[in-house]
Amino acid sequence: MLLAQLLRRNGIDSIVLEQRTREYVEARIRAGLLEQGTVDLLIEAGVGVRLQHEGLKHDGFEVAFSGRTHRIDLKGLTGSCVTIYGQTEIQKDLDEAVLAGGGDIRYGAADVAVEGLSERRSRVSFTLEGRRQQVECDFIAGCDGFHGVCRPSVPADTIRTYERVYPFGWLGILADVPPVSDELVYANHARGFALCSMRSRTRSRYYVQCPVNDSVADWPDERFWGELRQRLPPSRADRLVVGPSIEKSIAPLRSFVAEPMRFGNLFLVGDAAHIVPPTGAKGLNLAAADVRILYQALVDFYRSGSDAALDQYSPLALERVWKATRFSWWFTTLMHRFSDDPFAHKLQLAELHYLSQSHPAAQSLAENYVGLGFRMPA
Ligand code: PHB
Repeated sequence: MLLAQLLRRNGIDSIVLEQRTREYVEARIRAGLLEQGTVDLLIEAGVGVRLQHEGLKHDGFEVAFSGRTHRIDLKGLTGSCVTIYGQTEIQKDLDEAVLAGGGDIRYGAADVAVEGLSERRSRVSFTLEGRRQQVECDFIAGCDGFHGVCRPSVPADTIRTYERVYPFGWLGILADVPPVSDELVYANHARGFALCSMRSRTRSRYYVQCPVNDSVADWPDERFWGELRQRLPPSRADRLVVGPSIEKSIAPLRSFVAEPMRFGNLFLVGDAAHIVPPTGAKGLNLAAADVRILYQALVDFYRSGSDAALDQYSPLALERVWKATRFSWWFTTLMHRFSDDPFAHKLQLAELHYLSQSHPAAQSLAENYVGLGFRMPA
């Protein structure tokens, strides 16, 4: 949707095929933390008004360990900050903007298939309201997620994938209770990781690390709140306000990268090409970074007729993807409980102490957290 909106504002037509309904995509709970680069791109796309009004700017966050907290001063360490604004809200803003501008979104498109990726013109077929249809196009943006059809449509011998599956999941809940803190709290605890996030000053988003095969039914609200409270340092646990959950879900954690991100006329974008574990909130921001590179390359192609910028899409995007993959893996490894091994936990605590005492170590974390390329010169 972001790509469609940016292209449309530059005079390039597209058709968005969405398997779900508008109601579904505008209700699902997704990410919530935006790098400044993502905010800037949304503003450039003309969907920054509500975001700038309702988004919460965070100049720092906390890491908690050994019963205490340490603040990472993002602003002081990098000159930049992050913004809390739910992907759900971005989705609504984009739907409205694309439709108001006469954009073409086909909700409920089923059995999508892509063909002719290496021919001059490519084709996308789909079933809508019981009728099989086909559109011809110059390019296909595969923005259809990890389980989508685009990546598997590429010949297997032209794609290489890299993967790590983590031995735990995140159980997340959303509740209309005030957050424990004005900023996010990432907690390392012997019982497992916990994260205090938010969507607004009155709506909290909390997570606890859980066994990967648990189901939501294993976690009634009381069990969740009890577990979260135990994993937080006393100063934050004391401020925990509990209430009924309005959403609860379990997500597995995975690192995944597919290379390259382009096959002929098909460009893989976001989760279709790469997945990061949520620690550090890079998933949505990486997708937006892909969109920025692709939209600029397409604008360049239609203005100049040259393929040069399109040829740079995959190498440019992958450079950022691998850096974010490294950061998300590192932050996940630092904060989660992987095993009963006391040696591993001692190493984590030593690194957390180091982070809280070393300016360069904290700066490296902060620089990656705000998004590479957004550190202002000192
Ligand atoms: C979220 O609010 O959903 C969130 C925030 C920060 C993270 C991960 C998830 O690192």
